[in-house]
Amino acid sequence: MRQLLLGFLFLVAVSANVPNGYFDNLVDVAPEEVLPKLVTSNSAFGLCPSETYIDYYNEKWETSLGLDSSLTWRNASILWEKVRTMINEGNIGNFQKLCHSRDRFYYNMGQILYYQCVNLFSLLQWTDDIREAAAYVRMWQHLDFMCNVGFEQLLIPGDLKCVETASTNLTCVHEFEHNTNWSNVCPLVDTFMNCQKNLIDTACGVPNGYYACEGIRLGYGSYCTNLRCNVQ
Ligand SMILES: *[C@@H]1O[C@H](CO)[C@@H](O)[C@H](O)[C@H]1NC(C)=O
Ligand SMILES: *[C@@H]1O[C@H](CO)[C@@H](O)[C@H](O)[C@H]1NC(C)=O
Ligand SMILES: *[C@@H]1O[C@H](CO)[C@@H](O)[C@H](O)[C@H]1NC(C)=O
Repeated sequence: MRQLLLGFLFLVAVSANVPNGYFDNLVDVAPEEVLPKLVTSNSAFGLCPSETYIDYYNEKWETSLGLDSSLTWRNASILWEKVRTMINEGNIGNFQKLCHSRDRFYYNMGQILYYQCVNLFSLLQWTDDIREAAAYVRMWQHLDFMCNVGFEQLLIPGDLKCVETASTNLTCVHEFEHNTNWSNVCPLVDTFMNCQKNLIDTACGVPNGYYACEGIRLGYGSYCTNLRCNVQ
């Protein structure tokens, strides 16, 4: 069931040349001193009215997955590790359980509250720990990707090998790493997304590049506005 990992491969692949193990996110690759620059105050969705909402729905979600319900969004890196372990076991039961729990979390909270509360700018009202706040938001973005757009991809097993092989070409990754202006990251994320999309589309055919592009957009560009991946 290695296909289950496909939605994440792009993210893993782009960090393959970095020595310190797994990361897949701008916040993780950015030098510490530039982190505050990545945070702007223009949240498009409005802010979460109360931390109590997150704690309440997060606990229900944990319970449904059999996770330690004392962990909150402030323990996001531990939660993400547990979720990733479930994903990496690669069985379809886990996958369905995770996506079902994700759907319940979203529908119980409601769309508006979801976007207001699973939101970096909201979480930063209550913590200075940008990495932990970003990890929580990113965990839900990963689940969104995996359970929605990524799901179609997961059902096309034949493309896995091709994408894996093509992702060893680090041309786009190196270009991103060398050229990024850490005070103004979004334009280079856009370039990176399109570079990787073209690379994967060329090697493996449409729409595989689209998924690669979405993977980068969610992992690196979630702080940017107006980034789009197109299927064609
Ligand atoms: C979870 O986060 C809280 C708040 O930061 C912290 O006090 C607690 O020790 C963390 N729990 C674990 C298991 O690390
Ligand atoms: C990096 O971006 C900042 C903010 O937009 C800009 O002021 C600066 O000139 C840029 N640096 C380079 C080397 O382009
Ligand atoms: C890697 O990708 C770049 C850009 O798409 C391409 O020009 C280059 O030929 C590729 N390298 C290999 C070894 O396939």
